[in-house]
Amino acid sequence: MSNIILIGAQWGDEGKGKIIDLLAERSDIIVRYQGGNNAGHTVKFEDKKFVLHLIPSGILHAKKVCVIGNGVVIDPKALEDEIAMLKAKSVNVRGRLFISDQAHIIFPYHLLIDELLESAKGSGKIGTTKKGIGPCYADKVARRGIRVVDLMNDKVFKSRLKFILDEKNLLLNKIFRTKSLSFQSIYREYQRYRSFLKPFVCNTSVLLDEAYKKRKKVLFEGAQGTLLDVDHGTYPYVTSSNASAGGAITGAGVSPARIDKVIGVVKAYTTRVGEGPFPTEFSPKLMEHVRTRGEEFGATTGRPRRCGWFDAVIGRHAVRINGLGELAVMKLDVLDELSEIKICTAYRYKGKTYKHFPADIEVLENCTPVYETHPGWKTPLDHIHRFQDLPKNVKKYLKRLERLLETKVSIVSVGSKRIQTIFVKR
Ligand code: GDP
Ligand code: IMO
Ligand code: MG
Repeated sequence: MSNIILIGAQWGDEGKGKIIDLLAERSDIIVRYQGGNNAGHTVKFEDKKFVLHLIPSGILHAKKVCVIGNGVVIDPKALEDEIAMLKAKSVNVRGRLFISDQAHIIFPYHLLIDELLESAKGSGKIGTTKKGIGPCYADKVARRGIRVVDLMNDKVFKSRLKFILDEKNLLLNKIFRTKSLSFQSIYREYQRYRSFLKPFVCNTSVLLDEAYKKRKKVLFEGAQGTLLDVDHGTYPYVTSSNASAGGAITGAGVSPARIDKVIGVVKAYTTRVGEGPFPTEFSPKLMEHVRTRGEEFGATTGRPRRCGWFDAVIGRHAVRINGLGELAVMKLDVLDELSEIKICTAYRYKGKTYKHFPADIEVLENCTPVYETHPGWKTPLDHIHRFQDLPKNVKKYLKRLERLLETKVSIVSVGSKRIQTIFVKR
């Protein structure tokens, strides 16, 4: 198998960064295809910790090529900071990071509008990362965006920025009753980003096509998760891109015929950060226990993550939407101390049982989860390296997940470090 898409099968933060880093060893090229620096992918090895936001997590392997595809939205300032962070830790990106000339660029008005829209919504807010992601994608679809290639051409950039900023300033003045942004200052700042970005820019679809013809192995790194997908998630409490496997096709400019397999990453429980329905959310006591043990605080915003039981309804949804042939089950060690572990198998609402993910927000917000209860293992897992050494109750729990989701568990993670990973041999 050579070309793999790896996606989050819940609401993000499943541990994609850790698995990408491991699979990157067996890949030649690692590609981000959607989202932006709203993502926070953590990789830990030896005594080092990296949090990648925009650059593929494969960058930590010195010889690998990394691509930021056309479906990603790029904040040049965030990219510059991330490259500097990597450089300070002796990771060099020059010559092996390539950025699509068709990716859209985040501007200061996107960040400002993200902030203003969230404040205006009050209790109806989405709880975004305030990185300007939604407003940038909105402009892309409304054909008011500025792409990397547009920035590279001064004449095009100047006229597009002028046209778009006039409209944004009208919105800022008349609707939000706030001050205009200065054309000159944005223009000058982004002229500097032009020089900074230039060495990385190319047609990444062509790059990937040439790699395919040379039989290179490509790993597509999903950001966010299936339930945050703008089409398949808990709309409107979602991000603004296709975080599911389909996003890799449009967001990297590759054919679906070239994908060999899709791997889903899940936590052994569930988390979400930000607002929106979460049927299996814990009561406060369990929430505190799992949040503390699992260090469940956002890698991008530092916000505490909401935690809950594993939800097989959303799990099955993710398996279907993405065609998940394999699952990586993360953070099993976090459940070590629990005597009972629950799995949600269906939702009930107004006398009806839902086995498939319901799109209706009213059902999602008010349904009662149907649980089955499994005995815990009450044993530390963090030092276990072989599947056969896992306690009986862990194996039973994993078998049950496989049956409920109708897929196979191929990776089990029992700690945040590279070595705390079990590849299941069959
Ligand atoms: P991503 O966005 O999907 O890459 O996930 P994040 O990096 O935002 O969050 C996952 C967190 O869990 C990170 O802090 C990881 O270091 C940590 N982690 C990953 N796998 C495990 C595991 O098996 N056990 C524990 N305890 N932590 C893990
Ligand atoms: P990774 O890749 C978890 C959530 C935000 C908010 C919603 C919309 O690390 O798994 P946005 O800023 O995208 O408009 O916010 O999406 N969100 C994430 N939650 N992990 C992420 O990325 C997320 N990226 C966005 O909290 O609820
Ligand atoms: Mg994350």
